[in-house]
Amino acid sequence: MQIYKQDNTFILSNNEITYSFSIEKQRYLRHRYFGKRINASTNINQPYFFDRGFCSNPFPDERDFSLDTLFQEYPDMNQGDFRSPAYVIQTEDGKRVTRFFYKGYKIIKGKPSLKGLPAIYTENDKEAATLCITLEDEYLKAKINLYYTIFKDFAAMCRHVEIVNSGKQNLYLERLMAMSMDFAGTDYDVLTLSGSHINEKNINRRHISADTIVIDSNRGASSPQETPAIFLMEREATENFGQVWGFNFVYSGDFQAVVQTGQYNSVRVQMGMNPLTFGWSLKENESFVSPETVMVYSDEGMNKMSQTFHNMYRKRLCRGVYREKIRPILINSWEAFCFDVDEEKCLSLAKKAADLGIELFVLDDGWFKNRVCDKNALGDWVEDENKFPNGIEHLVKEINKMGMQVGIWFEPEMVSPNSDLYRKHSDWIIRSQNYEPILSRCQYVLDLSNPEVCDYVIESLSKVLSKTNVTYVKWDMNRHITDLGSYYLEKDRQRELSHRYMLGLYHILDELNKRFPNVLFEGCSSGGGRFDAGMLYYMPQTWTSDNTDAVCRMKIQYGTSLLFPPITMGAHVSAVPNHQVGRVTPLQTRFIVAMSGNLGYEMDLAQISDEEKEAIKEQIAFYKSIREVIQKGSFYRLKNPQNGNEVAWNFVSEDKKTVIYCYFKILAEPLRVNTPVRLKGLDENGIYKSKTNGICYGGDELMYAGIVSKPILEDFASYVYVLEKV
Ligand code: DGJ
Repeated sequence: MQIYKQDNTFILSNNEITYSFSIEKQRYLRHRYFGKRINASTNINQPYFFDRGFCSNPFPDERDFSLDTLFQEYPDMNQGDFRSPAYVIQTEDGKRVTRFFYKGYKIIKGKPSLKGLPAIYTENDKEAATLCITLEDEYLKAKINLYYTIFKDFAAMCRHVEIVNSGKQNLYLERLMAMSMDFAGTDYDVLTLSGSHINEKNINRRHISADTIVIDSNRGASSPQETPAIFLMEREATENFGQVWGFNFVYSGDFQAVVQTGQYNSVRVQMGMNPLTFGWSLKENESFVSPETVMVYSDEGMNKMSQTFHNMYRKRLCRGVYREKIRPILINSWEAFCFDVDEEKCLSLAKKAADLGIELFVLDDGWFKNRVCDKNALGDWVEDENKFPNGIEHLVKEINKMGMQVGIWFEPEMVSPNSDLYRKHSDWIIRSQNYEPILSRCQYVLDLSNPEVCDYVIESLSKVLSKTNVTYVKWDMNRHITDLGSYYLEKDRQRELSHRYMLGLYHILDELNKRFPNVLFEGCSSGGGRFDAGMLYYMPQTWTSDNTDAVCRMKIQYGTSLLFPPITMGAHVSAVPNHQVGRVTPLQTRFIVAMSGNLGYEMDLAQISDEEKEAIKEQIAFYKSIREVIQKGSFYRLKNPQNGNEVAWNFVSEDKKTVIYCYFKILAEPLRVNTPVRLKGLDENGIYKSKTNGICYGGDELMYAGIVSKPILEDFASYVYVLEKV
């Protein structure tokens, strides 16, 4: 891994990738290259300049030179680049004309942290190096610091920016991207992950054409509708072939990502704050730090790109004891009892679960005072004495005696109109004073830009967590933010609310992580509504979707795996007919899908037969024997459920000794032909023995010839093979 400057060119490389840009005319940053490592020379992507129509010329005598044709690193507007600017800063006179030019650079060992924000971290300075480029506007006395980190062990970089106002006048940030990059040529496809509630992370791939593609969220959360990620692919690139660039914003709030075709055969990719809901006032000596974007390069298609994201996120984004610890198998009360929980029911469910080998009982929504339905009580985090006459503490003790841990549900960012909290602090919600605020799921959003509100959340949760021996928290968030207004913020800071909300939330999560280092936090936003890299920094797993149907889940988990490793995906076996789609799928298939993430069960165990209980007991014993491979191994997508009837993936342990191969056939077919599935990531010289049928296969045989499954005359069929190297 190295960063150096050769003549006017900066080169950042590790064993796998190179990133390069130059200083042009001693002022501008010209992007040159991001891709597979090249033994870099400064001639990469040499530009050719012409005098072109409508092009503006910053140097009157050089009509060839225009920013509109330059591949840029961090472009502004008002100097002649009419493509999407990386930043727009308004000055006190109401204008938005600035002149930030290259000023200098420094190389920093390791990777600086981003105060108050989630970010990739290092454990020592040898793991990474960071280049900081400073641009300055001499008139404004303001600086833009561009940070680029390259890592020793990942084919990835991180970029973020810092704006520093050292001048006398107030500046206003109207647009701020964490990164901007211009690719040569337009022969690319763009892939994004979009969807909706109970239908998250659909893979959406299309050719780039002449128009601009904008992916964004202005919902106050990264959202189930879009994912703050852009994947740029060579047109011929596939799952295992071709060049792919993945960009992921490490942020959980509003964002914007842009893919814009330039008029002269280029593509601009940007990712940062959503200008619709972002604005930031920078007074003298104030600075603003953006969240960061992780940028991954793969020369072997999407799968290798995902492997890089997975390794990086598992090892250097997720934190705390659960980064390394095996995650427990849980039973969740929601699909069993909904709001209708009480001590007796919980103890009875927990007992049955303990008998099956389940390790953690999660008390979902409905446990606190007056929470009989979704209309009441959010914000009042005190147990309901009618439902739990002996208190949650007692419940936890009793369940602990069964050998199980206990977890509990909160929706800390919200308040119900019918709650003691709202009656006392109606000014703590996000709203405009002039209008009746909009309800969603009968609740309001707390104004986390207000430190007093954050303190309330921290203290009220801490109270429950410190008096009980709860070791897991499910952190829910079931609505999006309307009425962007704050009683707390000054008039000229109202546009800062969206981002300040996120900073408040990150602060709360950070504090709770510090106070309760042994608690496993699982993020949730009506399922995968905030399944993003920002949240994973504080909560190492997320409830992937409220949709627990096995067929839908194959698709959702497959899409999620483009960015996030299986260990981060909460996945539960639920009852049939399925609550969301009414489908009846075999218990085995529900299990194989759920064990491909972080396994849990979510059903009333009193309602199932003894045979099913026996089967679940076996599933759990089986999962315990292999879960290390699932949680810590590598994940390979083999057949895509989003466009096929056959679905497959395999896991490989870090030492390549154990392989878990999962196969599903969604609908039975009359022709009964199955195609060979070629496994990935094995030792090609090894011999692997199937624990299921005792047959030995060569690693090369499994990877290049593949396995053809027997025809199965049944819908939603599946099987799993465990292969051990002999
Ligand atoms: C939405 C979550 O996704 C569900 O799992 C459940 O916790 C409910 N909220 C409870 O209100």
